[in-house]
Amino acid sequence: MAETEHPPKRVADSRVVLSTLMNPEHANPLGNVHGGVVMRLVDEAGGLAAMRHSRSPAVTVAIDSMTFEEPIYVGNVITLTAELTYTGRTSMEVRVRVEAEDPLSGIITFTNMAYLVYVAIDRQGRPRPVPALLAETPEEQLMFEQARERQQERKRRHEREQAFREQHAATERGQQDE
Ligand SMILES: CC(C)(COP(=O)(O)OP(=O)(O)OC[C@H]1O[C@@H](n2cnc3c(N)ncnc32)[C@H](O)[C@@H]1OP(=O)(O)O)[C@@H](O)C(=O)NCCC(=O)NCCS
Repeated sequence: MAETEHPPKRVADSRVVLSTLMNPEHANPLGNVHGGVVMRLVDEAGGLAAMRHSRSPAVTVAIDSMTFEEPIYVGNVITLTAELTYTGRTSMEVRVRVEAEDPLSGIITFTNMAYLVYVAIDRQGRPRPVPALLAETPEEQLMFEQARERQQERKRRHEREQAFREQHAATERGQQDE
């Protein structure tokens, strides 16, 4: 077997569906649900899916493409659905979709979408291999390919930012030496 030691797993094996009622303590000054509250729940649902897939502690390394399509109101029930879209050697991309339901009218509104990357870690906090993701349906295969491209772009961006920081630090050191 591959170095992951574990057999590949399906998307459905780690899917997380989390529902919670939005109460007044979740409101921003406008009276709608605070964006930070939604972000925290998105990260929790995504992290749980990553842990279910890897059966390992997993830490967040990137959150991007989080959209806020419609406001969420106090009294709504929000449902977060988190699914793995991609696995690398130690990293996992998770897509989290959020819907808000008005329990009085039954109207359901799509409110948020986010993509997050988690890394499985061992007891020393070092990245550890994860089971491969089995993308079974054409939709899952398409999602996997798109996620692979996003992950490559994140790596390029990360390298560019690292190079910029190093260059900036070298310039500052040079100025101090003058
Ligand atoms: C997660 C962590 C251990 C990874 O360490 P590292 O030195 O970057 O390890 P590596 O370079 O081997 O990268 C590990 C994986 O993460 C991916 N990765 C690292 N930084 C990333 C980023 N910014 N975006 C996307 N993926 C990233 C790498 O591509 C690699 O994936 P692969 O194994 O599937 O190819 C380290 O970055 C860390 O501890 N970060 C803090 C995490 C944290 O505290 N999160 C908030 C609380 S949960």
